[in-house]
Amino acid sequence: MQSPDTVPRHVAIVMDGNGRWAKKRYLPRFFGHKAGVDTLVRVIDSCRSRGIRYLTVYAFSSENWRRPEDEVSGLMGLVIVAVTKYLAKLAGDGVRIVIIGDRESVSDRLRKAWDEAEALTRDNTGLTLSVAFNYGGRWDIVQACRRAVAAGLREDQIDEQSLSRFMATAHAPDPDLLIRTGGEMRISNFLLWQMAYTEMVFSDCLWPDFGEAELDQALASFAGRERRFGDVGAMAAR
Ligand code: FPP
Repeated sequence: MQSPDTVPRHVAIVMDGNGRWAKKRYLPRFFGHKAGVDTLVRVIDSCRSRGIRYLTVYAFSSENWRRPEDEVSGLMGLVIVAVTKYLAKLAGDGVRIVIIGDRESVSDRLRKAWDEAEALTRDNTGLTLSVAFNYGGRWDIVQACRRAVAAGLREDQIDEQSLSRFMATAHAPDPDLLIRTGGEMRISNFLLWQMAYTEMVFSDCLWPDFGEAELDQALASFAGRERRFGDVGAMAAR
């Protein structure tokens, strides 16, 4: 296990590859998502035991509505089942759950499940799990601007710090590490504002197969990076 000062405080994950995992097993895509939920619960445990304080996962993007209707409704139903199945465990483990995304267009049932998860875990002080649902990075920037204007911020009061307070992730520091599984190397409209200086690790592993070994590999890669935040840092000494 690595030294605590090289452990990222905030890890963000694009959980990709559920569909291909299911296809390899001649199963409908839904089964990949179902296995993906179980993987997520295991990864939350692994993150907790490694001292990671914030985990943000991309569960449903603003663009995912374009998927076939039965897959979309399957995913919505799965989330409700997952909340019912795992909420007590996560709450007992001290996990604080925060939903980030546009709640307007999700069903009342799903909104209720999210509200319950947030309310039950609000005062927990362990890992903060942010679930990006009906989320898009561009949506987030637009909603932050709108809320800043609605709050009466004048033009000269708008800067990076003040706008950050209106982003959906205002409760968390910016991610230190992004992990994307499934072999693609892109951000797909995930935390665009927040990932300005995030280190990225891309893994070929399909999300349902992602386990402790893959997490540790990503953390080791992160630990070996020199973060410069736009500065020259140690480069100047070369
Ligand atoms: C991408 O795989 C995955 C998704 C669009 C959904 C991820 C959602 C979960 C794991 C469920 C989360 C549930 C809770 C309760 C937070 P893909 O379908 O794009 O896979 P493919 O690239 O192989 O087709």
